[in-house]
Amino acid sequence: MSETTTKPAFVNGLEGIPAAESGVSSINGQLGKLYYRGYAIEDLAEHCTFEEVAWLLLYGELPSQSQLATFDGQLRQHRRLKYNIVDMLKHVPVTAHPMAVLQTGIGALGMFYPGREVQKPEVQQSAVINLISKVPTLVAAFLRLREGNSAITPRDDLGLAANFLYMLTEREPDPVAARVLDVCLILHAEHTMNASTFTSRVVASTLADPYAVVSSAVGSLSGPLHGGANEQVLYLLDSIGSVDRVDEVVGGMIDRKDKIMGMGHRVYKTKDPRAKVLQKLATRLFDHLGTDERYEIARRIETLATERLGSKGIYPNVDFYSGIVYSKLEIPTDAFTAIFGISRVAGWLAHWLEQLDGNRIFRPTQVYNGAAHRELTPMHQRG
Ligand code: ACO
Repeated sequence: MSETTTKPAFVNGLEGIPAAESGVSSINGQLGKLYYRGYAIEDLAEHCTFEEVAWLLLYGELPSQSQLATFDGQLRQHRRLKYNIVDMLKHVPVTAHPMAVLQTGIGALGMFYPGREVQKPEVQQSAVINLISKVPTLVAAFLRLREGNSAITPRDDLGLAANFLYMLTEREPDPVAARVLDVCLILHAEHTMNASTFTSRVVASTLADPYAVVSSAVGSLSGPLHGGANEQVLYLLDSIGSVDRVDEVVGGMIDRKDKIMGMGHRVYKTKDPRAKVLQKLATRLFDHLGTDERYEIARRIETLATERLGSKGIYPNVDFYSGIVYSKLEIPTDAFTAIFGISRVAGWLAHWLEQLDGNRIFRPTQVYNGAAHRELTPMHQRG
């Protein structure tokens, strides 16, 4: 059948079109439920570490104590970056967006750890360990280097979240802050067939190497309609400045039909369950480290948006409260999406492995709406 003669129904944004069969995660958008491999996100956030959840996503079951010890040990052992990569980070513009650096850095890792034979278990294993362990180091190194500080060598006596905070600040990480970041990483690790996961599966389906898979997904995550929203939320909160200005500023945005970043979701028609967990984390963090007026501004925006947009199913998504938490953890605003990326690497890799198992290259069709066949006028006959 020719693409030019058939007219399949076109669904803008592929809404409701299954792109894969997947057992990694599931969502109930009406009830606001999210499950990783059948486990509720609230239970995972309460009882697990990010490393444990990464294993669950990758291999389908919660790890035993010895499986987790081996996996975590390998992750700790592979955190360091080759000096060439650190040198490369020293030469990117200090004004570069951290997501651009992350995408480039992951692409560069692929040159040092060739992984083209993607069906080989040892290639898959090495990519999983390298990417989950080194991506946090890449992000932290760039954030330090652009301030004129040296990159900090990772410590292997700390969990992934605590070590990231250490590499950022060179201070002993606060245990509450480290656990809050650990839970944030759990919440962001996976989320069914979103844009970046779809990207990762499309690239995986070509049998490209895992570094190409993950760097492509990072590019997809960087946009403000996807992972980039958390950064935009903070800019909005800062531009509002105080709770008493919310009704005027956000009310005006709603009147003009401007989108409020961190609100709305293609699948959730109620409050994102991750936003609820994040709100609790924010409260816990503020009790421990002191309050932040931005949280009160955000809560007033949520109330106003619920009153005016709730009937359209517009409620806070995961990005609405994550920025306030990251800001309290001293993470720079433009690096919020990169933190999301550190975590989502686990989900992308789980989808990479799933895609390779029974792979068929993605090759959708299109609804052609261009010109019918026409005769070509050579250049010398055109006016
Ligand atoms: N603020 C105000 N109104 C909104 C918002 C919002 N954030 N999101 C959607 N709407 C309104 C639209 O104006 C539209 O109204 P209309 O029917 O009167 O024209 C209706 O809700 C449907 O909106 P769509 O854009 O068609 O919804 P879609 O499913 O395509 O988009 C998306 C989902 C991209 C998340 C959207 O809600 C949005 O842009 N949100 C802001 C960006 C954001 O927070 N992204 C992060 C998503 S979560 C993540 O990626 C981690």
